[in-house]
Amino acid sequence: MTKPKVFVTRLIPEVGLRDVRAFCEADVWTEELPPPRDVILDRVRGVEGILSLLTDRIDAEVMDAAGSDLKVISNYAVGYDNVDIPAATARGVPVGNTPGVLTDTTADFAFALLMAAARRIVEGDKFTRAGKWKTWGPTLLLGGDVTSATLGIVGFGRIGKGMAKRAQGFDMRVLYHDPLCRDDLYAAQIGARCVDLDALLRESDFVSLHTPLNQNTYHLIDADALSKMKPTAVLINTARGPIVDHDALYRALRTGTIGYAALDVTEPEPIPADSPLLSLDNIIIAPHIASASVATRGKMAQMAAANLIAGLRGDRLPNCVNPAVYER
Ligand code: DGY
Repeated sequence: MTKPKVFVTRLIPEVGLRDVRAFCEADVWTEELPPPRDVILDRVRGVEGILSLLTDRIDAEVMDAAGSDLKVISNYAVGYDNVDIPAATARGVPVGNTPGVLTDTTADFAFALLMAAARRIVEGDKFTRAGKWKTWGPTLLLGGDVTSATLGIVGFGRIGKGMAKRAQGFDMRVLYHDPLCRDDLYAAQIGARCVDLDALLRESDFVSLHTPLNQNTYHLIDADALSKMKPTAVLINTARGPIVDHDALYRALRTGTIGYAALDVTEPEPIPADSPLLSLDNIIIAPHIASASVATRGKMAQMAAANLIAGLRGDRLPNCVNPAVYER
């Protein structure tokens, strides 16, 4: 029996890739960098499935280049802002993602960023390596306390709740803002309060972003939002870079409108080497690695493979972001 043809836009962990290879005739892009646009358009021709990464723009043009045999798009990420969902739905193509398995790993990392920013760990390491550590100093690299501080969580989904759970261990007061989740059982259990965004920005010592990127959240944290935050506040972003206006963030960090930022995601990615943000000391910038644990990336690969194979078989995807395709 001939195997269905698929294009896999990068090497994913073997634990998932071997399932893809077993079921499909897989054309796998093995370079370190993502396939250029023209390569994607060329390699998807005639495929039945695409296994994409968040670095690949999968839009109507790509879907049309694939043609009418395209049965499934499986995105190796929980976020899917890189895929044109209405275009996929219009073509009857289900899109899969990888929710759940990366929740704890990502929340761990977001909390690690919070701690690192509060206690200036990255600055301290740079200071030591630069040979500047001469003695113990009463005012050397003073930071802010995490214990009993107020954490504001923007987006109270799985990862936002994971952040709230971690904050319990530090006796933090938790505020959250989420238009889709005003009455939440877990929030009630831990005493987290749902507030409007302005109140959250005003009252929080730490503001952590956990919303998807869409037209409502693009540049949600702009100059106006930053101006409402405390001058000592720390902004943490492990969601998507474009949720924060980077020019405004640079000005806010530079002028002391807010105290610190810790980003795992930027706009664009990677952050350009000449970005003014890189000239600041009061920011940590990680290369989009919040979900990067060996186990989690393996589970994401297995889920992405399972979505792909289900779509090729004509079965419902275990994790489908556009279930409307099944109602047609
Ligand atoms: C996702 O899955 O959306 C993350 O950003 C990548 O880990």
